Parts: sequence; structure tokens; C-alpha cells
Amino acid sequence: MAVREMAPKANGEACGVCGGRTYVIERRGDQAQARICACSEHCSVCGGRGHVLVEREGEFSQKVGPRRYEVMEQCTCTKLRKRISRFDALGIPASAAHATFDNYRASKEEQDRGRNVAMQFAYQYVQGNSSKGFILSGPVGTGKTHLLAATLAHLALELGVRGRYVEISLLYATIRRGFQEGKSGGEIIGPLSEVEVLAIDEMGKGRGSPFEMETLDELIARRYNAGRTTLFATNYSLEPEKRAVRSAAPSGYRTTEDARGAVREMELLRERVGERIYSRLCELCTFIEFPKDTPDLRRTRQEMEAPMRHPSGHGRPLGR
Ligand SMILES: Nc1ncnc2c1ncn2[C@@H]1O[C@H](COP(=O)(O)OP(=O)(O)OP(=O)(O)O)[C@@H](O)[C@H]1O
Ligand SMILES: [Mg+2]
Ligand SMILES: [Zn+2]
Ligand SMILES: [Zn+2]
Repeated sequence: MAVREMAPKANGEACGVCGGRTYVIERRGDQAQARICACSEHCSVCGGRGHVLVEREGEFSQKVGPRRYEVMEQCTCTKLRKRISRFDALGIPASAAHATFDNYRASKEEQDRGRNVAMQFAYQYVQGNSSKGFILSGPVGTGKTHLLAATLAHLALELGVRGRYVEISLLYATIRRGFQEGKSGGEIIGPLSEVEVLAIDEMGKGRGSPFEMETLDELIARRYNAGRTTLFATNYSLEPEKRAVRSAAPSGYRTTEDARGAVREMELLRERVGERIYSRLCELCTFIEFPKDTPDLRRTRQEMEAPMRHPSGHGRPLGR
């Protein structure tokens, strides 16, 4: 790979494109990808070599006393490139490319708690130490994938952690393919067991045959035994038992029909993934459940944008 050079801005002003972060996140195809910002392509620290000589002092023997010596160290531009490649390997969907903790909006207390748990996990993460993961549960468009993506992005770009985002259907497809190729459960989940932090989205979705469930269970157990953390998101409730739910009052954008539907849909993750997996989740994860009436930001956004696209009254005609 050609090593590009990188230079800090001479005038000390933050770059208007990257805001001084030195990298930019973009949507490429259906995935989020990162690149070095043009402002940082030339590195004046190492002149593009990628490493620097650093002077050190150390005492090797009492006779000789302290001596100065030089060691070769990675330049910050090399570290940045490594972190960018870690980000690119995450597999974050393009729709969550710009998801951060800062641009997450909490309209419910539980969402605020969700953000705090995710942030704490990301900021206190120490490579090589086991830390407790989290599982986010809630209705559609409430920012669950957003928080998973923000967490993985922070780990990759700030710490260089190897992470991976997978949707459960893709995970099942991998398991099924491996099974058809005659591989053992262990072989199939091998690569996913190695990833330092794995985020599994859409837990509980799909059919989930006994074989898929067993393999998923083994994957989670293996990761746990190796001291690696797994994060989850789901549309299903984390409650251990079905609660007697009285018909909830319809929120601003739900019809009474919808609200009744939401109550009927209160399916449990425990029933979807089975006792073994559910019990592991209880042990390994902090549970966060957004209430059923948490607003769907996809819909809110659409509703807010619609009047601007179709101005009523004077102005541009609605027709083409
Ligand atoms: N609380 C929020 N703050 C900021 N952006 C949000 C929030 N909730 C959703 N979004 C944005 O809305 C879009 C959909 O959010 P996201 O994919 O995270 O929802 P989700 O909870 O994972 O939904 P689903 O259950 O359908 O998977 C994304 O572009 C996301 O960035
Ligand atoms: Mg999602
Ligand atoms: Zn820049
Ligand atoms: Zn450099």
C-alpha cells in the first residue's frame, strides 16, 4: 500500500471538512467506510515514512550507568491508518455511518440510560479485559442500531479495537452455509469468536432452527470464555414473563389500531431465542428496554421533511 503523507494544519485552525479529527466517514455502497481527510494526507512528522525515531534513556547495567538510545516507533499517521482499516472492517450499515453518541437524541429516560450504558462501555473499554456488554430492546426506529454503530466506531477509531457488526439473518446464513459445507459448529463460528467486540443486531428475528440456536449459543459462550464481549439489539421484549398489558393510550403518531397491534406484538425475546441463550444474556449483559411508545425517528423525520418537499399554498407548484 502506498503510504501517503500527512500534515497538521499550519495555522492551527480545525479543518472544515473533518473538524480536526483527521478522518472522514462516508457511505460507500451499503456500508460505512472511513478515509484520511485531505488536510491530513501529508505527514510532516515522519515525512511519509510511517515511523519515527524516538530517543529513550535506560540503564542496562550498573557498571555502564544510564545510556541514551534510539527506538523506532509507529508514527501517529500509521496508527490512524490502522484505525481506519479497523473501522472499515466493522461492517456498519451505511444508514448508521454517521451515528455517534453526540447526535443521539433521547426522548425517553430509557434511551438516555441506553446511551449512557453504551458510552460508558465504549469509554471505559480496556483491550484484553473482559467487560460487561449490553442489550438494547425497543420498537423500530428508536436508535438501537445507531448506538451499536456508535459504540463500535468509537472502539475502532479511538482504540483500534477489532470489532464486527452483524445482523442475525447474516449470521444464520453463515451458520447454514457452513453446515451445508459439512463444517462443525466450532469451525463455523471460529472467525466470529475471534473478533474482540461483536455486535449482533435484530436478535430474535428469523426462524432460528435448533441447529442455528445451538450454534449461536456456542458462539456466545465461546466469546464469553475467551473474555470477549458481545453486544445485542432486538425488537423483542427483554421481560422474563409476559406482563398483563392494558391497551396503551395511543401516542401522537399511532392510531388506536396501531396501539392495539403494539400490545399484541409484545413478544418476548426469551421465547424467541430459547432458555439457554436468554439465561446467558442475563449473565453477560446490562438490559435496556425502550418503552413501546418511544417515537420512531424514521417516521418523525419523514413527517418533518414532507411539508418542505411539498410546500402548500404559494411557491413552487406541486406538479412537475
Ligand atoms: N434516538 C435517536 N437519535 C438520533 N438518531 C436516531 C435515533 N433513533 C433513530 N435515529 C436515526 O434514525 C434512523 C433509524 O435508526 P436505527 O436504525 O438506529 O433504529 P433501530 O432502533 O435500530 O430500528 P429497527 O428496530 O427498525 O432496527 C437512523 O438513521 C438513526 O441514526
Ligand atoms: Mg436496527
Ligand atoms: Zn480535515
Ligand atoms: Zn507520520
